[in-house]
Amino acid sequence: MATPLSRTKEALASLLFPWRFMLISLTFLPSTLLTLLRTRDFHSLFSWPLLQAAWFGRFWSWAGPQVRLSAEELVVPLLEGRVVAGKVLPSTNLSSARVPGVGGTVLEIGPGSGNWVSIFSDRYLSPSSTSTESGTTPGTRAKVTRVYGVEPNPAQHPQLRAKIAEAGLGDVYEIVPVGIEDLASSGRVAPESVDCIVSVLCLCSIPEPRKNIAELYGYLKPGGRWFVYEHVKRPLDEGWVMSLYQGFVNLLWPHLIGGCDLRRDTAQWLKKAGPWSEVDLVHPENTPWYHTVPHTIGILTK
Ligand SMILES: C[S@@+](CC[C@H](N)C(=O)[O-])C[C@H]1O[C@@H](n2cnc3c(N)ncnc32)[C@H](O)[C@@H]1O
Repeated sequence: MATPLSRTKEALASLLFPWRFMLISLTFLPSTLLTLLRTRDFHSLFSWPLLQAAWFGRFWSWAGPQVRLSAEELVVPLLEGRVVAGKVLPSTNLSSARVPGVGGTVLEIGPGSGNWVSIFSDRYLSPSSTSTESGTTPGTRAKVTRVYGVEPNPAQHPQLRAKIAEAGLGDVYEIVPVGIEDLASSGRVAPESVDCIVSVLCLCSIPEPRKNIAELYGYLKPGGRWFVYEHVKRPLDEGWVMSLYQGFVNLLWPHLIGGCDLRRDTAQWLKKAGPWSEVDLVHPENTPWYHTVPHTIGILTK
């Protein structure tokens, strides 16, 4: 049972978390610079976006697995269709599950170093799932037949490739090495051709988010599902102190964390991306007031 003292400690740790995270990120800068110098990659050394990508790639190879550890109790059930109104349903009682989990053809946005790739493997098929077709039973996952991982940062591709091989998805998972803003011109994915979009902690980093989120909507088939776990802006009406504090942290955060923006209204932009037949997108259950990086979680169905 949480005591007032333990709750105060937890709140303090949470408020200080962004500063700790940024400090750790900074420690990866010297080794990034040295590697670029050693490999004579002067092009990246003197271009801020390229240097930032190389730096973030190194940092995320450390941070990504930590983030997965803290988020997997939500993200794994989310991808199984077992998160409803921000709550995780037990796999033994799926009566209130509304849509099937991830399956069929999937577009994964910004997979980074491949933290979530293993979930697309058959090893993660729900024990209760009897379906072999894409997305038929609410709250259960079906076979993933194709994944397009849209990841523009080449610094993350070697690890991403390793995770794909580890998950046995070599014939299923294709890396599309562009930003989503260039996905249409890449010609790799046709409009209205994917069953599912998966975005985990990446819409904070894409350019022109409102426009590009709406464009991504166009890749979903009618009936397709968008699985979302993203961090979002703290609105003023949820408490001005935390909103102000988040704004203050965000003065520095994007420069040290690979261009990530803490102040995006991603949930609203997703809801307005196009007509949805069902929208379930909220803060996870029990999100405390002191989270500087609060999340939105859920599934939108076209
Ligand atoms: C915070 S990382 C998250 C990576 C991964 N989803 C995870 O949870 O570990 C954000 C990712 O978004 C990617 N990203 C940045 N700009 C992008 C763009 N324009 N299109 C697609 N992905 C992008 C970054 O390269 C990075 O891998």
